[in-house]
Amino acid sequence: MQTRKFCFVIHPTSLDDVHRYEPGAKGKGEPIIRKILEWMPAYAAVHVTGVRTPDGRETEGWFVAAPLMPEQMIDFPREEVYERILRAINIGAELGADVAGLGAFTGVVGDAGITVNERSPIPVTTGNSLTIAAGIQSLFRGAAEMGIDSQAATAVVVGATGSIGSACVHLIAPRVKRLILVARNATRLRKFHESIKDQLPCESSYSVDLSAVVGQAQLILTATTSTQDVIEPDDLQTGAVVCELSLPHDVSRRVAQERPDVLVIEGGNMLVPGNPRFERVREPGTEFDLGLPARTALACMSETMVLALENRCEPFTLGRGIDLNRVIEIDQMAARCGFTLADMRAFDAAITPETLEATRRAAALRQAQGDSVGNEMLLK
Ligand SMILES: NC(=O)c1ccc[n+]([C@@H]2O[C@H](COP(=O)([O-])OP(=O)(O)OC[C@H]3O[C@@H](n4cnc5c(N)ncnc54)[C@H](OP(=O)(O)O)[C@@H]3O)[C@@H](O)[C@H]2O)c1
Repeated sequence: MQTRKFCFVIHPTSLDDVHRYEPGAKGKGEPIIRKILEWMPAYAAVHVTGVRTPDGRETEGWFVAAPLMPEQMIDFPREEVYERILRAINIGAELGADVAGLGAFTGVVGDAGITVNERSPIPVTTGNSLTIAAGIQSLFRGAAEMGIDSQAATAVVVGATGSIGSACVHLIAPRVKRLILVARNATRLRKFHESIKDQLPCESSYSVDLSAVVGQAQLILTATTSTQDVIEPDDLQTGAVVCELSLPHDVSRRVAQERPDVLVIEGGNMLVPGNPRFERVREPGTEFDLGLPARTALACMSETMVLALENRCEPFTLGRGIDLNRVIEIDQMAARCGFTLADMRAFDAAITPETLEATRRAAALRQAQGDSVGNEMLLK
């Protein structure tokens, strides 16, 4: 069978990403960097090789940069952003890609991939189906590690009306006692909740007041398009688990310092089968720093690789109403191809068994001593 190839559109989601992609940018001020990005055309940044399934199927592909920051993707005229994404996909197609994936905000902008797919020379997917599957597995793996009885727990989905969040609502509901949906647009949130509440097999409610409800939950999943921190240390209940799928991240880095009793997990990381290499196109032989451990890729990248490996070069995931059957299907395809959930990680570091044990101890201490007293002690 002919080897199918893929391309995946990347863009920096933070200044740290810019420095990782282009080490020469270090030392330049943010306004200058934004201006440079405004003028920078799309380019093939990374050649991915060595992706190989346990039964010997292979693929290769390219990460093509559409180098705008998230705020620029939101603020620029939509047609111009579509144009930039399409230029990146065209570069991938010219290199030989048969399917294209949309990374981070390139899959969020406008109608979440529908228009881009219509105008693209090759089928396009947002990668959100595998991101959802990985996020749900990560959330409940975290719950098990923290000894949380999910069936008795309250969960919050932040970004509940979004492409990823709305599917997560349906997948979390059967596994918890109570579910609270959070977003900013009250009308859309109310309408969404009204349309699904009778199908949800648990108690459910909604709120636009994140700080008021996040503290009620043992389990939190975040998938927003905020470019600012959304969850602060004081928002969280003792011993809570937060699974974050958002890029850029939603959880303030202060949580890492101030709340040692809380388990934060980046939920969308997957281990790629074979011996994957992410080589810089401009400096062959040099590894591209994805900001992840070796052999690890985001779930949305992994979805694109899986479609190539399975010879399913089709617009698998598009738009904001995600078909839950597709989530199950891509999860099964990914497992067949040898993709697994990566080890737990947050705030640029691995969550080791020792870190986990320390988190459980800190939660127990804080619980035993009353939340505020415990917090003071933990901060000493
Ligand atoms: N880890 C991965 O592999 C991966 C893959 C794909 C996407 N992503 C990331 O996942 C995130 C969500 O993507 P999506 O496609 O689901 O986006 P989306 O469809 O645009 O949904 C975004 C959701 O976030 C809500 N929201 C935005 N700002 C908020 C805030 N400050 N507070 C509370 N809610 C807020 C929106 O509702 P309101 O506007 O009403 O607030 C909406 O419900 C993005 O950050 C994207 O980059 C990650």
